[in-house]
Amino acid sequence: MSKVFYKPIDQEVEVLLASYKLKLPLLLKGPTGCGKSRFVEAMAEKLKLKMYTVACNDETSAADLLGRYLVKGSETIWQDGPVTTAVRNGGILYLDEIAEAREDIISVLHSLSDHRRELYIDRHNETLSAPDDFMMIVSFNPGYQQSFKEMKPSTRQRFISLAFDYPEFDVETEIIQIESGLDLNKTKTLVKLSNNIRKLDELGLAETVSTRLIVGTAKLINNGLHPRLACDVGMVQSLSDDLETSRALKDLVSLSF
Ligand SMILES: Nc1ncnc2c1ncn2[C@@H]1O[C@H](COP(=O)(O)OP(=O)(O)O)[C@@H](O)[C@H]1O
Ligand SMILES: [Mg+2]
Repeated sequence: MSKVFYKPIDQEVEVLLASYKLKLPLLLKGPTGCGKSRFVEAMAEKLKLKMYTVACNDETSAADLLGRYLVKGSETIWQDGPVTTAVRNGGILYLDEIAEAREDIISVLHSLSDHRRELYIDRHNETLSAPDDFMMIVSFNPGYQQSFKEMKPSTRQRFISLAFDYPEFDVETEIIQIESGLDLNKTKTLVKLSNNIRKLDELGLAETVSTRLIVGTAKLINNGLHPRLACDVGMVQSLSDDLETSRALKDLVSLSF
């Protein structure tokens, strides 16, 4: 099995290890594509824990998380949801974009996220205690403008909070090189260009260039696509559907490549 590549940006590894040891749940906040999921994958591997990821949205139900009865022929059988499986078996439960889930769904997890570390499954009339090797991690994107969703303070204060952001120039350059195989010079040009786009507040982009977008674009360039075309399909078109905005972004690209 190949090792998950993760380049630490700050002291997140130390914080996660301490939280795991102390059995405190962790909240990762930061923009999309900045390495939150990759970080959890790498830490799960390091701690030799299985990782259970649940992508939350406004239709996520308690049954999606905890489990449901299924009809099979003449029988009804209980099927654990991912949260229940993680609590039964141990491992890292990663609830991605937790703020997208409804508040009443989040509250189902309250007893799991405090000192009780218990999960009550009312439909199945069962209470599970989390084993020592269970850890709950959630992610939250505070700048996500489409949703305007916030987390209630009563929920937020259950977690140790780690703020993520795009890495500084040298670190991001190294990440892009390793992830894409692109040569150092072109990678530096691409990361510089991305940082210039990130500075452009006046474009009013909902989200700016993420490390993920740079990785994808770098892979396209490394695969022989012309850098301008790669930047257009890998970045510009992903950032905006507005003609004028994409023209401004393309102008910026053409100054670099
Ligand atoms: N610190 C990092 N180390 C290694 N790869 C990273 C790092 N940060 C970002 N990446 C790259 O960016 C991509 C997107 O990161 P991801 O963890 O999926 O973002 P998020 O979960 O924050 O939306 C990853 O697939 C990886 O290629
Ligand atoms: Mg993610």
